[in-house]
Amino acid sequence: MSDLKVLFTHEQISRRVRQIGQKITLDFAGEQVLLVGVLKGAAIFLSDLARAIELDTTFDFISVSSYGNEKHNSGEVKLLKDVDQSLEGKNVILVEDILDTGLTLTYLKGMLMAHQPKALRVAALLDKVSRRTQPIQGDYVGFEIPDEFVVGYGLDFAERYRNLADVCVLESD
Ligand code: IMP
Ligand code: MG
Repeated sequence: MSDLKVLFTHEQISRRVRQIGQKITLDFAGEQVLLVGVLKGAAIFLSDLARAIELDTTFDFISVSSYGNEKHNSGEVKLLKDVDQSLEGKNVILVEDILDTGLTLTYLKGMLMAHQPKALRVAALLDKVSRRTQPIQGDYVGFEIPDEFVVGYGLDFAERYRNLADVCVLESD
């Protein structure tokens, strides 16, 4: 049996996402930005964040798989879908649902830096700071959270719960 406990309500998330959008709008004032979402978890965050950014904004998506089971990442990352366009000279914001060990975003940052973007930033809705094994930080972070497994607002457990409006802790026994 699994039990869901609300950690952040949709209202709290909306407010925070709007703040991040305003910060990005100021940081890149007068410029264009390209949001690169990491499928599938970041899709919902990206769709709300994009509408909170008042700049000339485009999207792209990449997909990776991390080996291991649903709750434990083994550390290897495999690229399943690359970006559709050149990132050279662009202001790129990598959009991810959660920063955990940092392995996924470290790999993706390295890969995207090879395209020579003008700027490369990381936006993560959630950050499990205590789990980090890689020296990477988010530039735009929604909420820092403790080491608990969370679902909802794009985040899944075995592909379920992505459609929950709130971010919830999944407690299994
Ligand atoms: P990292 O490479 O360890 O930073 O892991 C990042 C990926 O692990 C995220 O994109 C998520 O897919 C997954 N992940 C880490 N923690 C959670 C969680 O609490 N709930 C759902 N997915 C998680
Ligand atoms: Mg993910």
